[in-house]
Amino acid sequence: MNFWQRKSERRTHLDDAVAFVKHCFVTARTRHEAHQRSWPVLEQLSRDPGLMSLLIAKNLSTPEILQRTNYPVLGLELELNPHFQLVANCWIPPPEADMVGTATKTIHHHGKLLLSTVTVFGPGYEHWMFSKPEVADANQENYSMRLLEAAPHPVHHVSFVDRYIAHLPLYPATLSITICLWSNSVQTSWLDYVKRMSLIKHNEDRLRELAKRVGVARALDLNLIDYFDFYPVEGGFRGMRDRQEFSRGPCADHLHSLFHVLQSTKQSELGATLVERQLNTGAHFAERLLIEKLLADLRAGRPIAGKLSDCHLNLFHTRFNKLEIEQSLRAVA
Ligand SMILES: [Fe+2]
Repeated sequence: MNFWQRKSERRTHLDDAVAFVKHCFVTARTRHEAHQRSWPVLEQLSRDPGLMSLLIAKNLSTPEILQRTNYPVLGLELELNPHFQLVANCWIPPPEADMVGTATKTIHHHGKLLLSTVTVFGPGYEHWMFSKPEVADANQENYSMRLLEAAPHPVHHVSFVDRYIAHLPLYPATLSITICLWSNSVQTSWLDYVKRMSLIKHNEDRLRELAKRVGVARALDLNLIDYFDFYPVEGGFRGMRDRQEFSRGPCADHLHSLFHVLQSTKQSELGATLVERQLNTGAHFAERLLIEKLLADLRAGRPIAGKLSDCHLNLFHTRFNKLEIEQSLRAVA
């Protein structure tokens, strides 16, 4: 009898998975152990045939999903509690075939955060993992790092990204969805609760600046480190002192990606019903006409492509390929 079969029929597999992961985080001696104990459940979740409909139902229950601006990876919320966050990341394929296998963003690390990820849909991305970046020339902001792994992250595969480990997902050929389990690498404290308060969560960048200036960053555990992002340059890797995140693209692009996800995961009927319900609530949708057009395309089975916005495709330090990474690796070897 496996984990799922022991559980009540009234609850969804997703509820059970979240409850189990929570149990791991409450009882494990370390956050690393909690992640490790969660991996079999993440893997089982990826085999759950009802997962996509649960994900869609959960995220299309509010108008916000139809009002969002565009980010290159479409995030679907699953769970947020003081111990961890679970989110499904939908990796939208690039518009040109020759961009498959190129960088989706900078080579980056997540500071003190831990990440377990499982691919639940699609071919998955190729994932490169590097050693913790070391300063080679502080004045030039040059860094060196070693390649730890370059491997596919196919469906059902669980991967773990440790604290400070630099890594990079490459563009997949078609839509790929991963479920990400995020947590801090130190045990839960009241500070986690404070940080989860929505006021703080939504102002984290501003608070991080404020904390830097008044020197309370360590107390607030705001994950402060100067260099999170790196990209290949001649002779090695350049570190970026200030993170330049992707700007948000237009809502219209986000809507194309959302409907692409509904169609590709064969959730057209459920998706259409839920979108229509939101349209009938009287909420304001700046792109109501486009939503209605995409809804008609979804119902008629007309193909809908996802969209990366221009601001995502033209960001200089995120546009590089494997060859350039390999040249930099050889230069710092
Ligand atoms: Fe990452």
